[in-house]
Amino acid sequence: MAEAGSFADKVKTQADIVRVIGEYVRLKKSGQNFMGLCPFHSEKSSSFAVHPVRQIYHCFGCGVGGDVFKFIMEVDKCTFPEAVRAVAEKCGIPIPRQRTHDPAEQQASSQRKNLLALHKDAAAWFAEQLMSTVEGKIARGYLEDRGLDRETIAQFGLGYAPSAGDALLRQFRGKYQEKLLDASGLISRDPSSRAYDRFRRRVIFPIANDTGKVIAFGGRALGDDLPKYLNSPETPIYTKSTVLYNFDRAKEPLRRLDFAVLVEGYMDAIGVARAGVGNVVASCGTSLTEPQVRLLGRFTRRVVVNYDADTAGQAATERSLTLLLSEGFDVRVLALPGGADPDQFIREQGGKTYQKLLGEAPAFLDYLIRRAQKGDLASAAGKVRAVNSLLPYIQRMPDRLLRSEWATRVSQQLRIDEPVLRESLRRAAAERRSEVKLKTEHVAGGARPSERRLIRMLVDADDFRDKLAEEIRANDLQRGLGPEKIFTVLLDVIASGQRPDPAYVGDMLEEPDRRLLNEIVFEPSSETTWEEAESCLAALRRRRLETELTEIQRKIAAGPEPADMRALLELKQKLSRELAESSN
Ligand code: UTP
Ligand code: MN
Repeated sequence: MAEAGSFADKVKTQADIVRVIGEYVRLKKSGQNFMGLCPFHSEKSSSFAVHPVRQIYHCFGCGVGGDVFKFIMEVDKCTFPEAVRAVAEKCGIPIPRQRTHDPAEQQASSQRKNLLALHKDAAAWFAEQLMSTVEGKIARGYLEDRGLDRETIAQFGLGYAPSAGDALLRQFRGKYQEKLLDASGLISRDPSSRAYDRFRRRVIFPIANDTGKVIAFGGRALGDDLPKYLNSPETPIYTKSTVLYNFDRAKEPLRRLDFAVLVEGYMDAIGVARAGVGNVVASCGTSLTEPQVRLLGRFTRRVVVNYDADTAGQAATERSLTLLLSEGFDVRVLALPGGADPDQFIREQGGKTYQKLLGEAPAFLDYLIRRAQKGDLASAAGKVRAVNSLLPYIQRMPDRLLRSEWATRVSQQLRIDEPVLRESLRRAAAERRSEVKLKTEHVAGGARPSERRLIRMLVDADDFRDKLAEEIRANDLQRGLGPEKIFTVLLDVIASGQRPDPAYVGDMLEEPDRRLLNEIVFEPSSETTWEEAESCLAALRRRRLETELTEIQRKIAAGPEPADMRALLELKQKLSRELAESSN
C-alpha cells in the first residue's frame, strides 16, 4: 500500500492513471470514465473502466481492479516496489537513489510501526496492573462501583496506571529506546528533563484506530484529581481529530443498524454498548470534527446525538449538529430526562428504558422546535426569535426538498404563515449564502451506505445476484428509496436474464442516477458476501418499517375518527413490535 507521505504516495498523486494504463490499453472517453478492452481477460466489448478522478481501474467483466500500482503489478507481473519505480519512470518523477523510500521516510515508517507495538504492549501492561496488583484492586473496586464487571473490563481492554510515577518507565526502559518512549507520549519529562510516567493513578481506556490497533490512551482519575481525564498527546500515530472512541468495535453494528449513537465520553460509550446498543461511538472531547464525521459516513449517514444535558453538552450538541447537517447526515437528538449523561442514566434506569428513549429520539429540528416552543410564542417578537434560532439549521440542510419540508413543519408547529416564513428563509439564504458551507456532493442521489452496497452487489455478486434481486423484488424493498430508479432498472435487467453491465444499465437511467451508479461501482470495495447482503437487506426492511410508522404517526396526529384511530394505534403497535424485533 502507498503509505501517506511515502515516496509511493507521492508517485501516486503525481501519476495519471489514464496515461499510464493508456500505454497498455486503448482507452476511449465514456461519460466521466475511460473505457477499453480488458487486458486481463479476452472480450469483444469494452468493460474495462478507468476512473480519472478516483485514479482507479475496474473491469466489469472479470472483476479486476485497483490503483495504478496494482495495474502495473498485474500486467507486468512485478512486485510493489518495482511497480512504484516503473510508474515513477513513466511519469518522469525522479527516483531517490538506491531505495524507493528515502531514509527519513523509512525511519518515520518504522517509528510508526514501533509505536504501535509499544502501545499494544502498554495496553497489555496496564490491563495486567488492573487485574493483578494491590493498587489495581482498588481501581477495580472503583469500576465495579460504576457498574463495570470483569467481562466489560476485558471487552474494552481497560487497565490501570499505578501511582508510583515511574512504574511503566521502569518496565519499558530496557525494552524500548528512550526516543521511542518520548515519542509515544507515555513518558513525560520534568524541567530537569527527568522522565516519569504520564499516566499515574488512573483507570486507562485504550483508544484504537478504525482497524482496532491501540494508538493512544485516555486515563481517568480515581478520585477527584485534576484533570478528570488525561489523554495521550498527539503522536505520529495519533491525531485526535480523526479518531472516534469505540469505532472499531462499532463498525459491524453501524452497518447492520444503519445509524450511530454519538456520545461524549468513554464511560458513556461503554455504558451504551453494554445496554445492547453496540453502534455507539464517542467523540471524547467536546465537539465533533469533520474527519470524524467522514469516518462515520463510511458506515452510516444517520446519527442520534446523545450528549450530556448540561449546557456544555447542549452547546456541543448544537455544534455537532451543524457539522453533521452540512455533511448531509440525518440527525436525531436524544436529550435524556433529568440531565443525566448516558452512562448515569443507564445505571439508574436500565438499558431497556434507554433503548426505548433512543427509539423515540426526535429529528433534530423537532428537538429544536420543542425547545423553541418552551419560550415565549405569544408575542410576535418571541416568534421571530424562535424562527431565527431555527433558520440557520434549515439553511444548512444540503437537500432542497428536505429544507422545504422542514419549512412547512416549522410554520405549522410555531403557527407562522408559511409564505412569510419561506420568504424570510429565502432572504436569509440570499444574504448568508457565502457563510453557509453546503456539501452537495454528499447528498447527490441520496443513497445510504447499505443501499449503495446492495446496488454494488447487484452489479458485482455473480454468485448470489439472482437470489438477492429476488429477495428485493419479492418484498418490494426498493420502493421509496432515494436510488429507487437504479434498483428498478437493475432488477429489470437481471429479471430478463442479462448481466447488469453498469454502462448498459446507466444508459437506461437519467443523468443523476447514472452518475450515482458509476460512483457506486467505482467505490473501492472488499469482496461481497451473502452475509453482508443480508445485513444490508435488514437495514432496508427497517427503513421500510420506519417509513410506515412515521406515516401512521402522522395520521394519528391528525386526529382521525375513533374507529380509525383504534385501527391506526393497533397498526402502530404491530409495526413498533416488528421494528423492535428487527433490531435484535
Ligand atoms: P465529562 O466531564 O462529561 O465526563 O467528559 P464523563 O464522561 O461523564 O466522565 P465520568 O462519567 O465522570 O467518568 C466527557 C468526555 O470529555 C473528555 C473525556 O473524553 C470524557 O469522557 N474529557 C473530560 C477530557 O478529555 N478531559 C477532562 O478533563 C474531562
Ligand atoms: Mn459520566
